[in-house]
Amino acid sequence: MDLKNLELEAIKAIEEVNSIHKLNEVKSIFLGKKSKLQEVMKRMKDLSIEEKKALGIEINQYKNKIETLINEKKEKLDQEEVLKKLESEAIDVTLPGKKFSRGKLHPLTQVQQEIEEIFIGMGYRVAEGPEVELDLYNFEMLNIPKGHPAREMQDTFYIDENTLLRTHTSPVQVRTLLKAKGAPIKIICPGKTYRRDEDDSTHSHQFSQIEGLVVDKNITMSDLKGTLTFLLQKLFGEHRNIRLRPSFFPFVEPGVEVDVSCFKCDGKGCSLCKGSGWIEILGAGMVHPRVLEMSGYDPKIYQGFALGMGIERITMLKYGIDDIRDFYQNDIRFLNQF
Ligand code: PHE
Repeated sequence: MDLKNLELEAIKAIEEVNSIHKLNEVKSIFLGKKSKLQEVMKRMKDLSIEEKKALGIEINQYKNKIETLINEKKEKLDQEEVLKKLESEAIDVTLPGKKFSRGKLHPLTQVQQEIEEIFIGMGYRVAEGPEVELDLYNFEMLNIPKGHPAREMQDTFYIDENTLLRTHTSPVQVRTLLKAKGAPIKIICPGKTYRRDEDDSTHSHQFSQIEGLVVDKNITMSDLKGTLTFLLQKLFGEHRNIRLRPSFFPFVEPGVEVDVSCFKCDGKGCSLCKGSGWIEILGAGMVHPRVLEMSGYDPKIYQGFALGMGIERITMLKYGIDDIRDFYQNDIRFLNQF
């Protein structure tokens, strides 16, 4: 076999090959231990020294050339492999992505935070109290002793004889008074409250309130009225008027029911305000001397006012929601509207 022919044969074979596996086969056919090259080399022994040298040089050239070609081909095949892989694993960046929907605060939380901001702006601190409360703080120390008719309206869930789910946020008044030990107080307290009510469109056995309490020297009814005017104008619009009507809560004296001029008809009378021009919003009053006294404040030196509002009611009025149960049903179609 002539070396030149062998070389041509090898070049052709390398060219035609299209896989690494085949290329390895070609390599062993043209360079390996049992390759056609060996046949050429066998002839060496019959040659003169000069011829041996010449053939040796030729063989080396052959080997170098074929090895180079095989390596080049190998590189080419490797590259093709990578390209194929890239192509098959390609990501279509023009496809529309997956959307992650963003959550938002519950409408009750939004309104609660809005009210908190208004009070914080007036220098109030946000206090908290437990939902499982002592009868002592929920009733007794708010001037509602056992057997008092006011308990009738605030029946609740009892843990035992002395422990209950609080019916309002007012027990935090007592807790704050006891803790402050005679120092001035200016707090609000948002939180959940409970009553033994049948659930319907305006009642829920669980709801939420925000309580406000200010105790200091020289606190008067005009401070309460100013605070309420500021609060309700912030909540319902700068041009709202407020109206105080006498009312009764055992822990305040005098007690008032607070109305805001209707924000739908501007006080002219409409279906929302039932023709009266006024909408009832919350209860308030001057802290009862007995309440101050029971918690260690001298009512001759200290006075105060308290107010309490239902967050559900305010949210329903603000947004025209007509069923309180919508707040608790977790229907995203309802919640997303706010
Ligand atoms: N706690 C009263 C209620 O739930 C509201 C209130 C609070 C009234 C503070 C006056 C003063 O009905």
